[in-house]
Amino acid sequence: MAEHETHQYDVLVIGAGGAGLRAAIEASASGVSVGLICKSLLGKAHTVMAEGGIAAALANVDDRDNWKVHFSDTMRGGQYVNNWRMAEIHAKEAPDRVRELEAWGAVFDRTDDGRILQRNFGGHKYPRLAHVGDRTGLEMIRTLQDHGIHRGIEVHMECTIVTLLKENGRIVGAFGYERERGRFKLFQAKAVVLATGGIGRAFKVSSNSWEYTGDGHALAFHSGAELIDMEFVQFHPTGMVWPPSVMGILVTEGVRGEGGVLLNKEGRRFMFDDIPDLYKGQTADNEEEGWRYCQGDKQARRPPELLTRDHVARCIVREIKEGRGSPHGGVYLDIAWIQKKLPKAEEYIRRKLPSMYQQFKQLADIDITKEPMEVGPTTHYVMGGIRVDSDTQMSSVTGLFAAGECAAGINGANRLGGNSLSDLLVFGKRAGEHAAQFARDNPQGGVPTEQVDQAADRIIQPFDRSAEGGENPFQVQHDLQEKMQELVGIVRRESEMQQALDELQTFKQRAARAVVHGNREYNPGWHTALDLDNLLTVSEIIARSALERKESRGAHFREDFPGKDEALGKVNTVVHKDPEGDIQLRHNPIAEMPSHLKEIIEQMK
Ligand code: FUM
Repeated sequence: MAEHETHQYDVLVIGAGGAGLRAAIEASASGVSVGLICKSLLGKAHTVMAEGGIAAALANVDDRDNWKVHFSDTMRGGQYVNNWRMAEIHAKEAPDRVRELEAWGAVFDRTDDGRILQRNFGGHKYPRLAHVGDRTGLEMIRTLQDHGIHRGIEVHMECTIVTLLKENGRIVGAFGYERERGRFKLFQAKAVVLATGGIGRAFKVSSNSWEYTGDGHALAFHSGAELIDMEFVQFHPTGMVWPPSVMGILVTEGVRGEGGVLLNKEGRRFMFDDIPDLYKGQTADNEEEGWRYCQGDKQARRPPELLTRDHVARCIVREIKEGRGSPHGGVYLDIAWIQKKLPKAEEYIRRKLPSMYQQFKQLADIDITKEPMEVGPTTHYVMGGIRVDSDTQMSSVTGLFAAGECAAGINGANRLGGNSLSDLLVFGKRAGEHAAQFARDNPQGGVPTEQVDQAADRIIQPFDRSAEGGENPFQVQHDLQEKMQELVGIVRRESEMQQALDELQTFKQRAARAVVHGNREYNPGWHTALDLDNLLTVSEIIARSALERKESRGAHFREDFPGKDEALGKVNTVVHKDPEGDIQLRHNPIAEMPSHLKEIIEQMK
């Protein structure tokens, strides 16, 4: 067998963002041994990009809120293709997970009477986002890290997993390499939890950093697990557009939650122009009412900037396409306008949005208390992912669990802001608990040496290729991102997606010729060459799934099928790998919702 170091755990958690940390904490608390793998340094995770808050019906700011309203908002936001059981569990358990985080030391902003403060966010009926200024994800990671580190969890930083190991249809471990030195690592485990986050780096403009190459999605797919709903990719409406070096960096929805408005180059609030049917009658139709809503007036309706992300992103694209955009290809997001409304607006903005203030000051030389920001959509999140059991988080492969962004179901066709942080707490905990239980009930498997050798051979291939006719992995990644953005982006058409699929075949050939120089130590070219395989796998699955959903729903908008198809509103897109290694796709009926949940949705309408 290829030379490697071996580690043995009851539960191996791959991914150390919020979901991975929460799963590791829970598994370890139940007394089993836990290994935790991060692709980069501990604490560096896309979780920190959920800046504006954690959605949980604590009802601290508006006592009309409860789990039923949260459940119903989540289902409506996801346009009813969500896994209703996951949406129910999430809405019921989120408040406890937030209070637990507080007990572990998270320092939330406070109401006047000392409770956790909550703010408005798109698609949430009441102020529901527990927050720490605009650094909520960061505070969450800090708290989970502090809490987890004392539990004896073994952390493997800067480690990339390249394959999951299986024996008799069950997951028995994983194989990967240490990024710094390039040494191989073998992990034997009774249960594995995937918590690797998203696929944002498949697109050119993204809020995701370099780690998010769809690793968990691809690992699960290759190990035989089913993925669902991969056509639903969330483009967050507001990322930075200028200067070019910072394009895609997130501008939190919290700006709009605190009263920020979207303007086109004519200075007009274009969001008033188009209110989707699902939110008609529930959206303010004038500036004054929208502002009163942001200030907590219970009679006022939400401003149109707080409609769901899929809709807001498309309205921005429309303005830009029709020539009403800002100079650098975005629109304006203005929070400075609240000077007209609040006596101490500058102080208010700096207190509520400290990171945004610094981000724009330092990166774009803009003072957001005085000037509008230029913003445009940025790839932020994928609603699709590994299909899991709603209660246990086990995938369709025995012993393989998943939580957080790489798992799917709760969000349907579009995720509401803030639901990601509560999702990863609720389902991270459940994944850790059930993985630990599985580990207690099952023995350690053997080491499938052939699988280890195959993986080791595969990953060193880029060093053995001839430089002649070889490809630069960075160039292939760059070209792939451009094509995905152009052909499978916010607005989709059949001809373009077909073209994307053809181009993906060419990219696969180019990736197979990717050459790296030097040796395995400190070699970013090598890491990129290996990431390409996962990016290509998820890109193809996204394009295939999007092509097959011949309707527009949530984040998936088809210019050639602009309306909803009732029949497609009752199915999930499921993909798996067949024995020949090809992607097989089918539409699977969504289980009938029980009547007590249907009644809740009807009542809330
Ligand atoms: O805009 C934001 O703060 C992002 C939050 C989220 O994606 O949940």
